[in-house]
Amino acid sequence: MDSPALTGRHQKTGKVIEAMAPSVNSARLTELKKMKKWLLRNCKWTFGRECTAQEKGDVLVWLREQ
Ligand code: HEM
Repeated sequence: MDSPALTGRHQKTGKVIEAMAPSVNSARLTELKKMKKWLLRNCKWTFGRECTAQEKGDVLVWLREQ
C-alpha cells in the first residue's frame, strides 16, 4: 500500500482494497466488529500471530490520522 489515501490491490488475489484513510473513505474505522475481524486476520497474515494491544492501538491511532 503506497498510501492509505489511495485505493490498493491485494497482491495475491488482485482484489481491490478501498482507501484505508478515513479522510478519504469515511466508512473506515466505523465498525468495531469489522476492525477486530481484520486486525485478527491481518496480523496473523502478516506476523503469524495476533497483534499485541499496543500494536493494534498504534496502527489504529496512525490510521485515524490519515
Ligand atoms: C499483507 C498485509 C495486509 C493486507 C493484504 C491487508 C488487507 C486488508 C483488507 C483487504 C481489508 C478490508 C478492506 C475492506 O474490505 O474493507 C483490511 C482491513 C483492515 N486492516 Fe489490513 N491488511 C494487511 C495488513 C494489516 C496489518 C498489519 C494491520 C494492523 C496491524 C491491518 C489492519 C487493518 C484494519 C484495522 C482494517 C479494518 C479497517 C476498517 O475499519 O475498515 N492490516 N486489510
